[in-house]
Formats: sequence, structure tokens, C-alpha cells
Amino acid sequence: MAERSEQLIRKAQATHCLTRQDIAELLGDADCEERLAQAADAVRQEFVGDGVHLRGLIEFSNICRQDCCYCGLRRDNRRIERYRLTPDEIVELARKAKGYGYRTVVLQSGEDPYFSVPVLCHILQRIKKMDLAITLSIGERSREEYRAFRAAGADRYLLRIETTDAEIYHRYDPGMSHANRLRCLWDLRELGYEVGTGTLVGLPGQSLDSLAADVLFYQELDADMIGIGPLIPNGDTPLGEAAPGDFHLTRRMVSILRLLLPEANIPATTAMETMVPHGRELILASGANVVMPNVTEGDYRRKYALYPGKICVADTPADCRQCMQGRIAAMGRFVARDQGFRHHRKPNS
Ligand code: SAM
Ligand code: SF4
Ligand code: FES
Repeated sequence: MAERSEQLIRKAQATHCLTRQDIAELLGDADCEERLAQAADAVRQEFVGDGVHLRGLIEFSNICRQDCCYCGLRRDNRRIERYRLTPDEIVELARKAKGYGYRTVVLQSGEDPYFSVPVLCHILQRIKKMDLAITLSIGERSREEYRAFRAAGADRYLLRIETTDAEIYHRYDPGMSHANRLRCLWDLRELGYEVGTGTLVGLPGQSLDSLAADVLFYQELDADMIGIGPLIPNGDTPLGEAAPGDFHLTRRMVSILRLLLPEANIPATTAMETMVPHGRELILASGANVVMPNVTEGDYRRKYALYPGKICVADTPADCRQCMQGRIAAMGRFVARDQGFRHHRKPNS
């Protein structure tokens, strides 16, 4: 490993601050990956402890009005079987998630206009009565809609910026505006949500410098959660022939994020495990502290087909819960029992 990388890792661990060029250098040094992961694991332990937060993921609709070039849910994909759960079914999945011991659920879908403010607010209010923290991940909406969802009980919102490079964003998210995506994130911040965002690693044309800019953006936004995942090419989309995102580069980015945003919640994403068996454990040992096991039931798991090879499509919510609990315990960590809000504290205080 280059001496320079060692210096940068020490600097990041001590000051939680690096320049864009420093970050790009570390991202580009494959030889520093283990040392980076070790430093990130130490910072994770110091700032957020050994608890792993489990968030139950409910994939409630795969209907989407957007046409992102990488995603199987895109509107122009005719090869996907569409579904939309009813409000009662969504509330029932949340109730079952609570029964499995989850303290928090993530409601995720395509950008499905059926879920208007009255429809979604009613769902949120019903789930909120179960004393569950709620994360929404339903794409771009107006500030007023975000305000209404927050008032109805949504605590957190997950909206990846995907890339801070506006040119790349516009190329692969046709019809969408990077400025509006930023507007959404800042609105969510101002409305008092815990804000989750993140990068899709491996979009064609994305450079190390661009990934470094993403990291600095997450610091500027003071993101509460950052989810990083590699692109997994989907043959039913325009990016079907693209090279997959680099697992190891993604892992280095997770570790750098932990060093630079020590208090953030950082998930070990499902896409990492799709690429490498036990990839989530490796990422949990490289700075991450969150996992989002699927609590969607039956065939809907398969139909929520962002990319091929999705894990757990034949498993039940109970299987996933038990599986993750065992895997976390085997690492010498434990499943956190609180609702997993971001820690705002100094180390060891
Ligand atoms: N529609 C909402 C949105 O776009 O924010 C939420 C659901 S969307 C399916 C969640 C995330 O899936 C996106 O932010 C994107 O990064 C990721 N995703 C989509 N297609 C993917 C692919 N082929 N490989 C890896 N991740 C993908
Ligand atoms: Fe729709 Fe989200 Fe997929 Fe884009 S990433 S097509 S907005 S579900
Ligand atoms: Fe689904 Fe392991 S997380 S079976």
C-alpha cells in the first residue's frame, strides 16, 4: 500500500476531513482496501457501536412513471409484471414486520401516482399507531407533499442522488432534472426528516473524482444515512450491456464515508450481496451498521425486479429476519433494539 494512502487514512480517522483529491486517491488505490476497512470499522465502533439496525423493507408497488436507464421498474420496460399492494396489504405487512421484532419499516416503490397525499397519509397514520419508525422511499414529490407525509408520521426519507454529476444524471435519468433532485433533498432536510441518500456506483462515465464529489456532497448535506450500491446491469433496460459496478471500489467508498461521516447510518446494501455471497457481512465489517431485510411477501419479491439475481426472492420475511440475526451474531455484533435514529454524539460520550 502506498505510504501516501496510509497518511490519508490516518488524517481521515483523526479529522474526518479530506479534500476531493485525497478521496479520489484513496478510491483509486485498490491496495489500501483492507487498511481502509479496518480504520472504518474502528470509527464505526467508536461512534455508532456494535449494534446493527435492521429495517424491514416493504416493496409496495413496482409501477413507475420515470424511465431511469438502469432500473427494471422503468416505465418503458414491458417485460415486468406490474403490481401494486392495497393500503390494507401494506399496513398488514408493517404489522407483521412489527411482529418479527422490527422497530422500523421502509416503504419503497416506483414513482407511482396512485399513492396521492390522502392515500399515503392514511397508510402512514395507520402504521404510526404501531409505534414503528417509518422511512419513505418513493421518489420525487413536491415540498408540500413531503410536508404532508412528514406530518402524517414519516420520519425518514431515502432518495439517492445517484450521482452528483449532473451531465451523467441527465444521460441516464431521462426526463428528470438534477436540480429538482437536489431541491427534494434540501426540502426533506428543512422539513425535519432524517435524510438518506447515496450513489449508484458504476454509471458509465462516472470517474473517481465524481465519486469523491458525491462524498463531499453528503458531508455538505449532513446526510443521516448514505446507501451506496453497485450498478447491476439489467438486460431489460438500456444499460443492460454496461459493465457492472465495481464491488471493491464500492467497498472502499463505504469505508471512506464512515471515516468522513462518522455518525451516519450506513447500510450494507442488498446489491452488494447480489454481487458477492456474504457481501453484506463484508460491508458491515468495513464501516456499515444497517441492513434492510425484505419483509415483502410471496411473488411480489420477484416482481420488484430492479436488477437480475436479486437475493432472497424465494425466502419469507421470517427466513430473512432469522438469517440476518444469526449472521450478525456470528460477527460478534448484535441487532440494535432501538428505532435506529442517527446518533448525534461525540465518541465515547
Ligand atoms: N423510485 C424511488 C427512487 O428512485 O428513488 C425508490 C425506488 S428505486 C428502485 C431505489 C434505488 O434502486 C435507486 O435509487 C437506484 O439507485 C437503485 N437501482 C435501480 N436499478 C438498479 C440497478 N440496475 N442496479 C443497482 N441498483 C439499482
Ligand atoms: Fe422508477 Fe426509482 Fe427505478 Fe427510477 S430508480 S425507474 S424512479 S423505481
Ligand atoms: Fe433473506 Fe438471508 S437475508 S434469507
